[in-house]
Amino acid sequence: MSPTRTETPTRTRIQNQNQNQTGPITMRAIQFTSFGPSSVLEAAELPRPEASPGEVVVRVAGTTFNPVDATIRAGFLAQVFPVDLPHVPGFDVSGTVVAVGGGVAGDLIGRDVVAFLPMTAPGASAEFAAVPAELVAAAPASIPLADAAALASSGLTAWQAIVEQAEVRPGQRVLVNGAGGGVGGFAVQLAARAGATVIATAGPRSRDVVTAQGAAQVVDYTTTSVAAAVTEPVDAVLNLVRTSPEETAALVALLKPGGVFVSTTTPGVVPAGSDVRAVSLFVRSDAAQLAELVNLVDAGELRVDVSARYPLEQLAEVHALGEAGRLRGKVVLTPTHDGEGGADR
Ligand SMILES: NC(=O)c1ccc[n+]([C@@H]2O[C@H](COP(=O)([O-])OP(=O)(O)OC[C@H]3O[C@@H](n4cnc5c(N)ncnc54)[C@H](OP(=O)(O)O)[C@@H]3O)[C@@H](O)[C@H]2O)c1
Repeated sequence: MSPTRTETPTRTRIQNQNQNQTGPITMRAIQFTSFGPSSVLEAAELPRPEASPGEVVVRVAGTTFNPVDATIRAGFLAQVFPVDLPHVPGFDVSGTVVAVGGGVAGDLIGRDVVAFLPMTAPGASAEFAAVPAELVAAAPASIPLADAAALASSGLTAWQAIVEQAEVRPGQRVLVNGAGGGVGGFAVQLAARAGATVIATAGPRSRDVVTAQGAAQVVDYTTTSVAAAVTEPVDAVLNLVRTSPEETAALVALLKPGGVFVSTTTPGVVPAGSDVRAVSLFVRSDAAQLAELVNLVDAGELRVDVSARYPLEQLAEVHALGEAGRLRGKVVLTPTHDGEGGADR
């Protein structure tokens, strides 16, 4: 675990608030009580979670917006992600442990942590969140605590694609399709760090960022066909964009024999007789992998590029911007806690 941050609020203050209060201890949160457009997201005063056995309660510093948040909120993924209503969204969390449940080491209290929460559980769009202790990793000490939330699910998705599935090695060529997004930013960096030559597709607003992240070639998908721009075959394709059957086939066709097509979106179809591999990736929470990502951040080898920060109260606006394609990279949301004039650091 990393050193405890000195600026985090003390337990004493939280305990004092509790002592002065009769009745249930509450917190501010954003939730939706029915599926629908972004306007179903509303502020609510909810009971503050208590730590059940095996859990910690985190005082939330940051959470994020991910594209699937909007899909779940709209009710389009009820079969895949059966959330109970009302639902507090936000499965990325960073913050400070303020309570532990049975079976969890008490010395976690006061630690700054980061986690990728179970996607159907009550989320981190709140002042406090209950988190299974086994999912928690120490937060990076070298970046603002709120920003650390941006590392969780997107960093893990990139790790599981580039390191675990594609096993990218020095000298390989890797195409990241959709590099301008939250996952793509980490994937480009991890592939470049592994010694690969990275080709990225990105629009004009993301060109400079993905270049700084280590892309050797950037193909502007708004003007250029990636299949035409990539003239030499690649060892791995990471597809982060919903593609038509023709587009998917064109990406698979860029692979060398023995290559791998990893997709978080449209599954790859491998032509009969070909020896390329297609992987449909479903990210899983993994505290050990998250700890590896944190170590890279603190070693200065992985950047957490946060493109915008919003107060949690603006979550509905953030969902609307995300659905309109107007968010770039990772966006962090920060709750305001009692006694604070503004969001956390
Ligand atoms: N299966 C899983 O476990 C899993 C996990 C994480 C994410 N996902 C999914 O993976 C996808 C990417 O996630 P994300 O969080 O990175 O999304 P994101 O942050 O919304 O990024 C998507 C980015 O892709 C770029 N883009 C849009 N159309 C494109 C095109 N035709 N060609 C190339 N780039 C294009 C845009 O960036 P610019 O225009 O700025 O270049 C856009 O910002 C989403 O569909 C998400 O739901 C799945």
